[in-house]
Amino acid sequence: MNDDIKKGLLGIVVDETEVSKVMPEINSLTYRGYAAQDLCEYCRFEEVAYLILNKDLPNSIQLKKFEREERNNRELTKNLYEIIKHMPKKSHPMDVARTAVSVMGLEDKETTDSSHESNMRKALRIFAKTPTALAAFYRIRKGKKIIKPKKTLSFAENFFYMCFGKVPQKEIVKAFDVSLILYAEHSFNVSTFTARTITSSLSDIHGAITGAIASLKGPLHGGANEEVMHMMNKIKKPSNALKWIKNALKNKEVVMGFGHRVYKSGDSRVPTMREYFGKVAKIKKDKKYEKIYDIVEKVMIKEKNIHPNVDYPTGPTYHLMGFDTDFFTPIFVISRITGWSAHIMEQHAANKLIRPLASYKGNRHRKVMQLNQR
Ligand code: SDX
Repeated sequence: MNDDIKKGLLGIVVDETEVSKVMPEINSLTYRGYAAQDLCEYCRFEEVAYLILNKDLPNSIQLKKFEREERNNRELTKNLYEIIKHMPKKSHPMDVARTAVSVMGLEDKETTDSSHESNMRKALRIFAKTPTALAAFYRIRKGKKIIKPKKTLSFAENFFYMCFGKVPQKEIVKAFDVSLILYAEHSFNVSTFTARTITSSLSDIHGAITGAIASLKGPLHGGANEEVMHMMNKIKKPSNALKWIKNALKNKEVVMGFGHRVYKSGDSRVPTMREYFGKVAKIKKDKKYEKIYDIVEKVMIKEKNIHPNVDYPTGPTYHLMGFDTDFFTPIFVISRITGWSAHIMEQHAANKLIRPLASYKGNRHRKVMQLNQR
C-alpha cells in the first residue's frame, strides 16, 4: 500500500473543533475546557449536557430551564409507541434506537430546517425522547407494561424508573450519572465523524444521529461494553481469569474493552469509572467481576502493554445495576447524543463537504465486449 495512504485516517487531523480535547500525552480529556473528571465530581449529567451543547456550564436559572425543556419533551407520539410495540422482540436495542430516531425525524415539524436554533431544538427532542423509546422496548420485550416518563425525576433517575419501575439508591444513580458524563463526548471518534460526514452534505440531524448510532453499535467502538460482559460471562469466575486471558492472547484474540486509537497508555476516563464500578460492586456485595477485571487488566498491561478503555469498567457496572447486556451500548447512545449534536452543529457552522480520495488498484482500462462476444 503506498505510503500516502493512512488507512483508518490514522493520525490524520481533518478539522478543528471546540467541543472537547483528548490529551493522551497527559492522559486527560476536557469538554469545552473543563476536565471530565472534575465534571464527574461537581456536576450532574444535565449540567454537562448543557455545557456540551451551549459551550458553557449553566447557572441555576439556565439549568432549571434546560431541565424543564428536557423533561417536557420526554414523551413519544402514540404512533412511535405503536411502532416500537411492533418491532421484532429479538431486535437489538441499538437497531431500535436507530429506528426510533429515524421515526422522530419523520415526525419532527422542523425536520427541513437545519438552522442552528432549529438544530438545537431538535437535538433536545432527540436527547429527551431516545431514553423513553429504549425503555419502552426494554419493557415490551419482557412482556411488561410501558412505564411513561416522569417529569419529577432527573435524566438518570427517569431512565431507571422507565426500565425498572423504581429509582435505585442515590449512590447507584450517581454512578450512572458519572458513566453518562464520561460517555458524552470524545472528539472525532468514528460515530461522531460519521455524524459530521453525513452533516457535511447538509443532510439533517436525525439522519446524522441515525448514522452515528449505527456506527457506535460496532464492537470496535461502543459495542465493546457489551462484549466485555460477554467475555466476563465466559470467564465465569476469578479462578478462570488468568488461564482465559493467557489463552486469548495465545490465540491472538482481540480483547474487548482494551486498547484505543488515541490513548496509548490508558484511557483518561478509566480511573473515574473504575472507582464507581468499585462503589457499585460494594453496594451490590458482588466482587466477582472486580476480581476478574483486575486479573485480566494486569495480564493485558504486563504482556501486551495494552490498557483498558472506558468500555471495560462500564460493562460490569451496568450489569451490576441490573441492565440487560444488550442495553449497555444504548446507554452510551443516550449520553453521546449530546456530543454528536454539538459536532453536527459545529460542522454546519463551518462546513466543507467531506470527500477523501482513494488510490485505485483495480483493472487497467479495458474495452467493453458485446454480450454475444463474452
Ligand atoms: C471506544 O475513538 C474513540 O474515542 C472511541 C471511544 C469514544 O469515547 O468514542 O473512546 C469509545 O470506542 C473505545 C474502544 C472500544 N473498542 C474496544 O474495546 C475493542 C477492542 N479494541 C481494539 O479493537 C483496538 O484497540 C481499537 C479498535 C480500539 C483501536 O485499534 P487501532 O488504533 O486501530 O489499533 P490496532 O487495532 O491496529 O492495534 C494495534 C496493535 C495490533 O497488534 P499488531 O497487529 O500490531 O501486532 O495492538 C493490538 C492489535 O492486535 N491490539 C489489541 C487490542 N487493541 C489493539 N490486541 C488485543 N486486544 C485488543 N483490545
